[in-house]
Amino acid sequence: MQDLLDKRIVLGLSGGIACYKAADLVRRLIERGAQVDVVMTEAATRFITPVTMQALSGRPVFVDAWDNRVHNNMAHIQLSRGADAILIAPASADFMAKLVQGRADDLLSTLCLARACPLLVAPAMNREMWLAAPTQRNVAQLTQDGIEIFGPGSGEQACGETGDGRMLEPLQIVAELKRFFQPKLLAGLRVLLTAGPTVEPIDPVRVLSNRSSGKTGYALAEAAWEAGASVTLISGPTSLPCPFGVTRLNVDTAQQMRDVVMSHLSGQDIFIAVAAVADWRIQNISSEKIKKDGTSTPELNFVANPDILAEVAAQQTGPWCVGFAAETENLSEFAHAKRLRKGIPMLIGNLAQHVMDADHTTVTIFDDQGEHVLPKETKQEVARQLIHAIAERFKQSKPSR
Ligand code: C5P
Repeated sequence: MQDLLDKRIVLGLSGGIACYKAADLVRRLIERGAQVDVVMTEAATRFITPVTMQALSGRPVFVDAWDNRVHNNMAHIQLSRGADAILIAPASADFMAKLVQGRADDLLSTLCLARACPLLVAPAMNREMWLAAPTQRNVAQLTQDGIEIFGPGSGEQACGETGDGRMLEPLQIVAELKRFFQPKLLAGLRVLLTAGPTVEPIDPVRVLSNRSSGKTGYALAEAAWEAGASVTLISGPTSLPCPFGVTRLNVDTAQQMRDVVMSHLSGQDIFIAVAAVADWRIQNISSEKIKKDGTSTPELNFVANPDILAEVAAQQTGPWCVGFAAETENLSEFAHAKRLRKGIPMLIGNLAQHVMDADHTTVTIFDDQGEHVLPKETKQEVARQLIHAIAERFKQSKPSR
């Protein structure tokens, strides 16, 4: 997925064992279409060689402030010009202290001081170093200086201790980087989503479900987080990893999904119901596995599941609601009717046969203005466009925001 296509990133490595993760980070950035120029401190070269970073980035690696491979001999100026961001990963406690003081005694620190682009910092250090008062003061100062801090993560450390201070994993840094480049259309808002299928038990080993992959709902959750929202995702069973930054709550049945939605509704600004909720569940669930007897087939009695979206939409002070409709025909007619029936301001429709389990999708937005088709794109790109449309309409509905 080329979701960092043509982004020019200067990746700075300062000294720390997390330098080994920077090698994978370069690969992840390159496979997403970014161009990566690696700059290392002398200490970083003790942990990983410039040759490794050059092979992975496909570009020359810079360490020395006196390197004469750059036009004018001014690597500290040229490397950041035209860059979309400088990302320091790993950023040691010492390097962060240098950034705070504005010191410029090697190529990487000089480059940061002379930059004309955003600076992003992924700290990596022992937990005591991270918690130390000078480091915390430095983090606060960097934030005040407009520098973004990614992480750190928490867990086992190379030194054998456990706690805060680990560098984020490469894919988590990629997620933070993608988020950095997105407009913060939902800053300060809380978004609740449902996604995936529900599964309704027949007996202890069999279930009734549907073919929803959860991809659209997960992509929307990620796009809402990228847009600055605080996101809770209530998900039926899927094989998808939880998007970084999103809080996921797992459920199986429609009734569980309904209960978890209702108990998390307070304080939510926007509710996006993407889940393919089973319309019916089995009333006569067997407590034992139903046996084949060779002659008869089991009789299953169905009972309607609660309509979660309609129930949320009916709340007096509930969140602003967005629904989905996957139809197999007459999309426009069914979708308009469904939006009105559920009492929601916006419904997103698509043709089920075109999108189930696919990576690309095309959707139509239905609201009181009519309908608006979005072009076929990756689910991630469509999700970003939908979040844009949702943010716009939500703000129109609440002009004070
Ligand atoms: O009624 P229908 O299933 O076609 O409506 C689809 C929309 O309603 C989706 O947004 C889906 O997440 C939501 N829905 C729900 N609870 C149900 C059925 C659907 O929230 N029981």
